[in-house]
Amino acid sequence: MSHFKYFREKLFIENTSVLHIAKKNKTPFYLYSEKQIKENYLNFVKTFKDINPLICFAAKANTNITILKMLGRLGSGADVVSGGELLKALKAGIKPNKIVFSGVGKTEEELKLAIRKKILLINVESESEAVLINKIGKKINRIISIGFRLNPNVDAKTHKKISTGKAENKFGVSIKNFSAFYKGIKKYKNIKIDALSVHIGSQILSDAPYKKVLGILLKVIRDLNIKLKYMDLGGGFGIRYGKKDKLINLNNYARLVYNFKKKLGCSIIFEPGRSLVGNTGILVSKIQYIKKGLNKNFIIIDAGMNDFMRIALYDASHNIIPIVKTNKKNQAPIEFVGPICETSCKFAKYKNYQKIEEGDFVAITDVGAYGSSLSSNYNTKPLIAEILAGKNNFKIIKKKQDLLKLINS
Ligand code: LLP
Repeated sequence: MSHFKYFREKLFIENTSVLHIAKKNKTPFYLYSEKQIKENYLNFVKTFKDINPLICFAAKANTNITILKMLGRLGSGADVVSGGELLKALKAGIKPNKIVFSGVGKTEEELKLAIRKKILLINVESESEAVLINKIGKKINRIISIGFRLNPNVDAKTHKKISTGKAENKFGVSIKNFSAFYKGIKKYKNIKIDALSVHIGSQILSDAPYKKVLGILLKVIRDLNIKLKYMDLGGGFGIRYGKKDKLINLNNYARLVYNFKKKLGCSIIFEPGRSLVGNTGILVSKIQYIKKGLNKNFIIIDAGMNDFMRIALYDASHNIIPIVKTNKKNQAPIEFVGPICETSCKFAKYKNYQKIEEGDFVAITDVGAYGSSLSSNYNTKPLIAEILAGKNNFKIIKKKQDLLKLINS
């Protein structure tokens, strides 16, 4: 989080004190660094420059329209997984020829929308979906270019709930079934397989599983003698949430993909989500109450698991840092918890935290990906605001949801 730094014991985002922003806005809220978003995108471009890929930001990681617009202006396309995400990407100014659409359960309506908007690729995830697209194509007398998402049966060695590339996972089509379908492709006059896609999981911290996938892909493509326009290699690159997370060596991976591309002669697509936005945001929250327990003190903050789900959903670990540092230590072990009526509405435990008091502000770190986009109205709580900090200023890029509107719906 290089654009979140302490200066004279106060946490700064770029050049603005987070305390200043917290005093001017009702907590909790998401707070993003504009510079960090830009830097991450440009670093990704630089890492893969020899491959010159189309980078399709996985919109599900963060669907804030201002952030989508920023990435779009930098040159990013979008990977979408619903009609809603597709329309949002278009609204953000991302051109249809930079949009790819994945997902195992696309409805006919969503497919028709994607076809009408002439997006670059629909990555189909079943034979039935390909047949449906062929039927739609026949009706409108068009040959529709599709990608086929393969399930390579490779373990991404990540959390089981975010693993997508093993045979037991619902995603993609097995190599065996794809090969059988491909051999009978001539039956389907209104689809054309221009691409293959893979995405084996998220928060992947080693290049070994990716390497395995490239080998498998090369073999299938050669065995079936497929001519591809695009190879969509998905996303999944992990970020460092804590000291023990070792980062994937993207330069190594770039070299592997470079050689792979040279052998195939097609364009490469990537779908990074987390690696572009994960470290760009914090969730600023206020300590509502401090309650003494028998073995620890509960620090009850005003953000709940509805605002930030990752910890409850995946036992993910995120640091919680004070907005103002002090040298004084807390007396007892503490646990940060939220207000939602679920035991899993808890965020982190610390043995030796600094002294904190009711009314102080803290920040959950690295919440830019799958933070706001996963939030919900559980317990009839309004969705919280999102704020973007620039060089010397900040602006609200999503208002807090109106409680009255929420209780009337
Ligand atoms: N492409 C496809 C087809 C995907 O399903 C995903 C993520 C991505 C790209 C982007 O993956 P990334 O680069 O962000 O790892 N909510 C979970 C992560 C779910 C990821 C779902 N698919 C979490 O908070 O860890």
